[in-house]
Amino acid sequence: MCGIIGYIGDKKIIPLLINGLKKLEYRGYDSAGICVRENQELRTIKSKGRISELESKKELNSLNPDLGIAHTRWATHGIPDEKNAHPHTDCKNQLAIVHNGIIENYSSLKKLLEKEGHEIKSETDSEIIAHLIEKFYKDDLEEALIKALKLTEGAYGLALISKNEKKILAARKGSPLVIGVGEKEMFLASDVPAILEHTKKVIYLHDNEIATLTKEGYQVKHMNGEYVNKEIHEIKYSVENLEKGNFKHFMLKEIFEQPQAIGNTLRGRIKNQLKLTLNLDLSSIKRIILTACGTSWHSALIGKHLIEKFTRIPAEVDYASEFRYRNPILTEDDLVVVISQSGETADTLAALREASARNAKTIGIVNVVGSTITREVNSGIYLHAGPETGVASTKAFTSQVLALLLLALYIRQEKGLALDKEILEEINLLPEKIQKTLEISDYVRTIAEKFKDSKNFLYFGRGINFPVALEGALKLKEISYIHAEGYPAAEMKHGPIALVDENMPCVFLATKSELSQKVLSNIEEVRARKGKIISVVNDRNSEYKNFSDFVIEVPETLEELSPIINSIPLQLLAYHIADLKGLDVDKPRNLAKSVTVE
Ligand code: AGP
Repeated sequence: MCGIIGYIGDKKIIPLLINGLKKLEYRGYDSAGICVRENQELRTIKSKGRISELESKKELNSLNPDLGIAHTRWATHGIPDEKNAHPHTDCKNQLAIVHNGIIENYSSLKKLLEKEGHEIKSETDSEIIAHLIEKFYKDDLEEALIKALKLTEGAYGLALISKNEKKILAARKGSPLVIGVGEKEMFLASDVPAILEHTKKVIYLHDNEIATLTKEGYQVKHMNGEYVNKEIHEIKYSVENLEKGNFKHFMLKEIFEQPQAIGNTLRGRIKNQLKLTLNLDLSSIKRIILTACGTSWHSALIGKHLIEKFTRIPAEVDYASEFRYRNPILTEDDLVVVISQSGETADTLAALREASARNAKTIGIVNVVGSTITREVNSGIYLHAGPETGVASTKAFTSQVLALLLLALYIRQEKGLALDKEILEEINLLPEKIQKTLEISDYVRTIAEKFKDSKNFLYFGRGINFPVALEGALKLKEISYIHAEGYPAAEMKHGPIALVDENMPCVFLATKSELSQKVLSNIEEVRARKGKIISVVNDRNSEYKNFSDFVIEVPETLEELSPIINSIPLQLLAYHIADLKGLDVDKPRNLAKSVTVE
């Protein structure tokens, strides 16, 4: 949610900040802005809309600054327009801030500041921070920042500059910030991709830490004034991983990267035995609670099936946003598994903190290395799916499902129960089978052509494939803006069937399972009402073919692994529909990749 970049050094600052913002655009894209220090004055340039609109501003060309900060916004307070875009300055235009997060007590602070004569120009909560710092700023910028932040409630990742000082200050509570270490230059960003082309050496700022960046180096202090010795991490992936290559969109590239992503999630973890370095005693676990948001919540639903099947330990799934506020009953015999691609989702992080405070054991299933969740869990499983840039999650989802399967089998192994050789063999075949599945992309596009103008879609699945139906519907909603719903197939006759007529496309997940025959009956019921049937099958001889308008054949696998394969045609269907409609697939309206606000 919102992207921040800052730079101090000798490189050309404007293109560096603009390019950095472009790499962060997935975090928010309704307005953007830049503030630089030139001849000891601050120059701020903003625009509504995408970074490209900011980039086209002529005023940028004449600037020759010595440092700068920039921001791409996902609006929380105030409409997306130029006035509400960051950076925000104080009354005297002597300091500027960019902010990611929400200041919850901003309206009372605003009243206080207005009473004291400050002129607040925007409708944002963020501008308040600039004026609060102004209130305390005499000659020590860091002291003023600390005093200001102590009055705020809520979350921030922020950068601050002053016309009087050749430095960038940064502070973090709840919203991620990373410092990039260079030679006689320093970078600041809300995520690594923004600075990766310049440095692979990064420092992750933790909550309640304040950093000061100069050309020569950095120093980090805790809000209480104590210096903090920070570890420098080396980023393992390169800029090429962040490019679209020959693909039209990141989403399509990421769909096609799934054989490698799944291979990476598997690497070194499975032979005759499961090898997960969890360093956590799971022997006393009596209950497992899976919590997450959005697509990750769908993988949690699949995880529940897998955990209960393979471990016989009861598992529950909770939306992180609900879990954190419902006073959950937890003991040290509970294991809470938090699932998050970004590792920064505010609700998921809060759910994790709730679980830790109640002494439950915690495991994180996370993609982004070094993210906040990975630092706060007792133990974790990295997905290693590689950077996911498209706002709609694809490869992270299938990797999450695999990681949950590995976790379930690992717990089974730890309980001394036998592991079935067949499932281990099938897991190892997944990259190959996913590769094969991707061959249906062109065929799925022909289906997309037929249904791109539909107003509604229904998705049906049973058992472990019901969450796949939910995820298929979510993908379509997110990027094509077509209303779609997922249902357990048997629930259809309890209501949704009323919606079925000749204009209703119904996608059935009908791969082999104990309930295949029952799904077939549901298909017949839809057919009797003239609904259009698209079925995903893996049995060449199945009767589904006779009852479906379109049949998508995927490779056969075990039912427990079928959600991974079955998700792929649904990702492709959503992608092709959105692309045929000419929509901005990677940056769908109103969304952002990482939701670091409540
Ligand atoms: C996925 O397509 C979504 N954009 C969204 O639902 C996402 O899965 C959710 O916000 C959770 O994100 P996380 O996995 O990074 O925690």
